[in-house]
Amino acid sequence: MHSVLRAGLVSLSVLGSVAVLAEERLIADFEGSDYAGWVATGTAFGSGPAHGTLPEQAPVTGFRGQGLVNTYLGGDKPIGTLTSPEIELNHRYLSFLIGGGAEEGRTCVNVLVDGQVVRSATGREDETLSTLTFDLGDYAGKKARIQIVDDVTGGWGHILADHFVLSDTAATPPYFKQPLDTETLYEESYRPQFHFTAQKGWLNDPNGLVFFGGEYHLFFQHNPKGREWGNMTWGHAVSTNLLEWNQLEHALHPDALGTMFSGSAVVDWKNTGGFQTGKEPALVALYTAAGGTSDESKGKPFTQGLAFSNDRGRTWKKYDKNPVLGNIGDGDRDPKVFWHEPSKHWVMPLYIGEKDPSNLDKNGKPKTRNVCHFYTSTDLKQWTFASKFAEELYECPGFVELPVDRGTKPSKWVLWGASGEYWVGRFDGKSFTAETPKRKGDFGSNAYAAQAFDNLPDQRVILINWMQGGKYPSMPFNQQMGFPVELSLQSSAEGPRLVKWPISEIRQLFTSVLHEELPLNFPAGKRALSGTNAELADLEFEFIPGSATTVAFDLRGNRFEWNAVSQELSAFGRKVPAPIGNRNLGRRSEFRRPWGPDYEPWEKSVRLRFLIDRTSIELFVNGGTAAASFCFVPKVAPGNTLIVEGGELTRSRVTLRELKSAWKY
Ligand code: FRU
Repeated sequence: MHSVLRAGLVSLSVLGSVAVLAEERLIADFEGSDYAGWVATGTAFGSGPAHGTLPEQAPVTGFRGQGLVNTYLGGDKPIGTLTSPEIELNHRYLSFLIGGGAEEGRTCVNVLVDGQVVRSATGREDETLSTLTFDLGDYAGKKARIQIVDDVTGGWGHILADHFVLSDTAATPPYFKQPLDTETLYEESYRPQFHFTAQKGWLNDPNGLVFFGGEYHLFFQHNPKGREWGNMTWGHAVSTNLLEWNQLEHALHPDALGTMFSGSAVVDWKNTGGFQTGKEPALVALYTAAGGTSDESKGKPFTQGLAFSNDRGRTWKKYDKNPVLGNIGDGDRDPKVFWHEPSKHWVMPLYIGEKDPSNLDKNGKPKTRNVCHFYTSTDLKQWTFASKFAEELYECPGFVELPVDRGTKPSKWVLWGASGEYWVGRFDGKSFTAETPKRKGDFGSNAYAAQAFDNLPDQRVILINWMQGGKYPSMPFNQQMGFPVELSLQSSAEGPRLVKWPISEIRQLFTSVLHEELPLNFPAGKRALSGTNAELADLEFEFIPGSATTVAFDLRGNRFEWNAVSQELSAFGRKVPAPIGNRNLGRRSEFRRPWGPDYEPWEKSVRLRFLIDRTSIELFVNGGTAAASFCFVPKVAPGNTLIVEGGELTRSRVTLRELKSAWKY
């Protein structure tokens, strides 16, 4: 195989204007009959490249041309290495295709400089190869070797690789850190920088959100053994400011009653459960033991369990008489317990899949109706059925009391399910009566299973959701949490509505503020914000549309488009209501002038706020009266641009705050 030099082939457009010419150099494409100077050891590589799928292997796709490196030669068992000749690093990026096993350091592609592994990536337990880029800028001018390793004999004990190219532009955002290298953990290419993620492995619902002893606790649905859902365990992190999280030992592990599904945590101030051993109250967690989801719990139903901690959540003991609530319906789960002071008892909203004998499926079996039951208890151990909320509600009930119009009207209760749809109404300590129809709580694609904190030190009600469904190719972790938002209720013509607004702590992450009043009558075709390449940003934009028909933002390669006719903002195939507003709706801007009057919303404007992280964007319209959550996989060299089309914006202003990472200070 020869190194071929190809020049001037790739042109990359930055912000639609500047063209950058790049050069690339093909290092190896494995199209020949032998490895052309690459040296194989062991037996996994054979004498030359494979031509696609090998015997007994699931179909291999995604390679270039006819040949590739495929070590499924005789199955997973054989091992070995394949090492390139010395390569001069005269371009910054090395891009290649990779697939196969995911064991770090054992089924991988390494780059060696002076005999040391400086970059390493594995496959993703996938027979489809995908592109990966290493940034080798630190080693410019040095000599390196590429080494393909198969050191695993069991399941997924093979590696696939093809088409190694050195170039001046990256084919994907560079994946340049070793996963789970503790020095560089949290800096990976797709790691959100101010949204919580697990160090490694899968994450879903936030669980047990509670404040105690100066710390916010965030437990979370976690698979400690892999990047996909399974082996549900309560992961655990703490923070003193809701921004910087410190991941601790896992709190609740699967047992004979099941794996650990979602639930909540409370501080038992009055020691009603009798679990307290020292001077401080015990933390008590109520969770679902998902019977039948593990070998150990085969044949068991879903029940509700209790665990307690007397050391600020550092270690947990399960109650020896678990379950505290036996099985009721189908897949009962997600208890969200709180203390109701007027009734002097604990309340547990719980999701139940009820079999409905009056509604049969085509096989004559009763269909499941998804509902929320309320149970009460005086000691957290014995629970009594109190009521059932009649409407359809699926998974993870959330239930909080909120002031209306900043406390100028009597407070109301809000009940929601995992999708975020909510009702506002009254609660008498036992049953909830809705006073509004069901309303949408999030207009994006990725908000799910939101939970509110218990026992907060101030009057706020703070919520965190799981940003369900994001993609994080080749990362050691999978899935992120939403940024914490403060909830409030605001009167509207249709009754009280939920308002969500990012917690003001976010200011601690601001590193710079750019505030610009854009020229009056900002014309169509004109762009603003160009060059603000901020990867992490809190961006507010307010405009009085005038004759403009479309106001669009390109935020890191993602288009958000406001349409003057529908008064909606479209993004990622979703539509978010964004009416020309009433300035009194929603929350005020987070922008504070160092001098002069505070930032008051204009009459008849649209107010947008975007929290932009490396792999997510959260949108808050008109002071948080509509919210939308989105996840994305970043593209190369995206910027942030405003584009006005079809007419002029009468008036507009922008505030862009760059944020620093919350993982390191
Ligand atoms: C919601 C959910 C919960 C369940 C948990 C299991 O995302 O399905 O109902 O407790 O996830 O991980």
